[in-house]
Amino acid sequence: MNQIELNPWSQKPDLIAHMRDQGIFPMAYSSLAPLSTWRVEPGQDSAKTADTKRDDAVFSAMATKYGTTEAQLLLRWGIQKGYAVLPKSLNVAQMQQNLALAGFAIDAGDMAVLEGLDRGFGVAWSVGDPVGMK
Ligand SMILES: NC(=O)c1ccc[n+]([C@@H]2O[C@H](COP(=O)([O-])OP(=O)(O)OC[C@H]3O[C@@H](n4cnc5c(N)ncnc54)[C@H](OP(=O)(O)O)[C@@H]3O)[C@@H](O)[C@H]2O)c1
Repeated sequence: MNQIELNPWSQKPDLIAHMRDQGIFPMAYSSLAPLSTWRVEPGQDSAKTADTKRDDAVFSAMATKYGTTEAQLLLRWGIQKGYAVLPKSLNVAQMQQNLALAGFAIDAGDMAVLEGLDRGFGVAWSVGDPVGMK
């Protein structure tokens, strides 16, 4: 298993293909990084900038379509890609939300739209995505 940042902004298709080829199972961290509310508390640093908010409308529109929250949509994306997901929450209602992912499925057209949002780098680490470091 390899635990890496995976969300619609950071999809790492070449690495995923290599891992699949080698029998290495992907586990996604920072699945919720695209949320505008992600790590906004003081001290919760990341490489996310104001510019990275530009796709928020896509996620909110899809969440409305499926009757879910944006967080659920992002987690369901990971599951449909075949990844383990490990969302972190200190909020009981949000933990419950993050467990309730079985009642809907993102359709193929929307999965293709989400695939088009890849930016090629992660934002979880303030120093940059460790996948790209030598
Ligand atoms: N291996 C590595 O290098 C690595 C790197 C980064 C992270 N991780 C691990 O991966 C796990 C998750 O990563 P992460 O904390 O970066 O990102 P995450 O789980 O994608 O996002 C956590 C943030 O999203 C919020 N959140 C959680 N559920 C939500 C919901 N349903 N609606 C709205 N907001 C929600 C949380 O706030 P609340 O607490 O207020 O809900 C918190 O601010 C952690 O356990 C972490 O240890 C591993």
